[in-house]
Amino acid sequence: MLRTHTCGELKIADIAKNVTLCGWIQRSRDLGGMTFIDLRDRYGITQLVFNMDNAAALCQQARQLGREFVLNIEGTVTERSNKNSKMPTGDIEITVSAITVLNTAKTPPFTIEDATDGGDELRMKYRYLDLRRNVNKTNLELRHKMSVETRNYLHEQQFLEIETPYLIKSTPEGARDFVVPSRMNPGQFYALPQSPQTFKQLLMVAGYDRYFQIVRCFRDEDLRADRQPEFTQIDCEMSFVTRDDILETFEGLTKHLFKKMKDIRFDSFPRISYDEAMQRFGSDKPDIRFEMEFTELNNALKGKNFKVFDDAELVVGICAKECAFYTRKQLDELTEFVRKPQVGANGMVYVKYSDDGSFASSVSKFYTDDDFHALAELMGALPGDLMLILAGAAEKTRKALCELRLEMGSRLGLRASDVFRPLWVIDFPLLEWDDETRRYYAKHHPFTAPKPKDIPLLETNPAAVKANAYDLVINGVEIGGGSIRIHNKDLQKKMFAILGFTEQDAQNQFGFLMNAFEYGAPPHGGIAFGFDRFCAVFGGSDSIRDYIAFPKNNSGRDVMIDSPSEIAEQQLNELNIKIR
Ligand code: AMO
Repeated sequence: MLRTHTCGELKIADIAKNVTLCGWIQRSRDLGGMTFIDLRDRYGITQLVFNMDNAAALCQQARQLGREFVLNIEGTVTERSNKNSKMPTGDIEITVSAITVLNTAKTPPFTIEDATDGGDELRMKYRYLDLRRNVNKTNLELRHKMSVETRNYLHEQQFLEIETPYLIKSTPEGARDFVVPSRMNPGQFYALPQSPQTFKQLLMVAGYDRYFQIVRCFRDEDLRADRQPEFTQIDCEMSFVTRDDILETFEGLTKHLFKKMKDIRFDSFPRISYDEAMQRFGSDKPDIRFEMEFTELNNALKGKNFKVFDDAELVVGICAKECAFYTRKQLDELTEFVRKPQVGANGMVYVKYSDDGSFASSVSKFYTDDDFHALAELMGALPGDLMLILAGAAEKTRKALCELRLEMGSRLGLRASDVFRPLWVIDFPLLEWDDETRRYYAKHHPFTAPKPKDIPLLETNPAAVKANAYDLVINGVEIGGGSIRIHNKDLQKKMFAILGFTEQDAQNQFGFLMNAFEYGAPPHGGIAFGFDRFCAVFGGSDSIRDYIAFPKNNSGRDVMIDSPSEIAEQQLNELNIKIR
């Protein structure tokens, strides 16, 4: 080893030891008679001291060294006269007796500090420098610990970690595939897995009744703060289990992680149905850190000659506690917010219930005080509260009110990142109708089993069929999703038919799975957690990029290695690819 200690470990008990350290120069200060250098490595910072009086040559040498130079130093641990209680090594410093410069460094394009002066794009380009910063180091440490604890828990529960291939055939998870041309099979392509879904089901057929894998998945979809084109799942599958066995096992994993990572213990996670989640929160991933639940107001507010409400399929509102003082400006801001295209409402109605018991509203000419009293009672509003109401087509209006609820939650400080409220959303619809293509799509994926009692409805009313599917949601983030699977060839065939596959298409794409179902497929089900999202929620961040060592930007580019990029003519020829 080139070093005897790291830069984070020397304490007062080490005084007088001769040590060798390696690290990068965080900063240096030249005070004339004395020069100080902060030497940094992964573990911390140690102060080096050079004294002009008794080591002039070394001191001169130290003054020449720039930020981020890589050093190997020898010296003696000495007690500091000026202690720094904020640093773990703040009681000591090293009186240096020899310096070896292991490498020089150009001045970095941004400061390697917690509050850096580098913008997003610049830091992405020099990601290896950005990763030297404490915030990123802490995030990657959190990620590492999450994966260790996940493996510990699942190993204890008899799960086997088994790798599945990356060069596969398309599995439909709702996004586009990334494809890889095959040189040896001209004109043919592999697809990178959107998830190992079919392989984990085949492992169940093979008898490996508890499988997991911390695995990279690839999806060519529009990117957002919580979506990357390549991301990681904790992918799991079990045989001979009911839905509740799966929920208990993975609630167990989630609790284990909360205990180990955050020292937080939970009772059972609440479970609410998809329908209930949509009705109460307008979302299948509700943030239940705060209440502000929806109240449906069709009966209370229709029929009073206010055309917007009378014509609406749904009138629905939320009550913001103690917000009746909101000014015109604040209400205008909220109206602007709901009108943004991403939110999609046409407008917003407010009813202020003032402390003195009077009402003020944007629609007061249509409603009497008695109407407003009845409204307040329905919405659980008290004097001092503010009621916010949207109206329109049911699905769109719920979605818009969900956004408004989250906005109000944020404005009122009800969404603290160190408060965690996990829940299960269960009983999802099996199918989703798409008006544009006029066909059903699988809400989860085509391998999800319908609830047994709903199977007859597949013939008569497919939209009403509920699936044995579930999501784990924490603080409004979909952390994981899974289902009990179809393990019967005929039902799987029927499902493909409902999804618009011809028999031939289904056979071509999924013949391998349906054939496997003829060789003794056990009943099985599973779940996959978005590992990056899990880490981000634990770390209190909205962006999964912060928890990925080398992420892509929002256009799917790695700006550091400049990828994707063109490839050589010869490579294209070998792959039989012509670019028009
Ligand atoms: P699903 O498609 O719901 O299910 O994915 C599981 C979880 O993966 C995370 N996730 C993502 N994270 C980051 N970037 C993305 N682009 C991205 N897409 C999804 C989410 C999501 O909940 N095979 C099924 C699981 C199963 O049925 O067992 C599947 O992949 O947190």
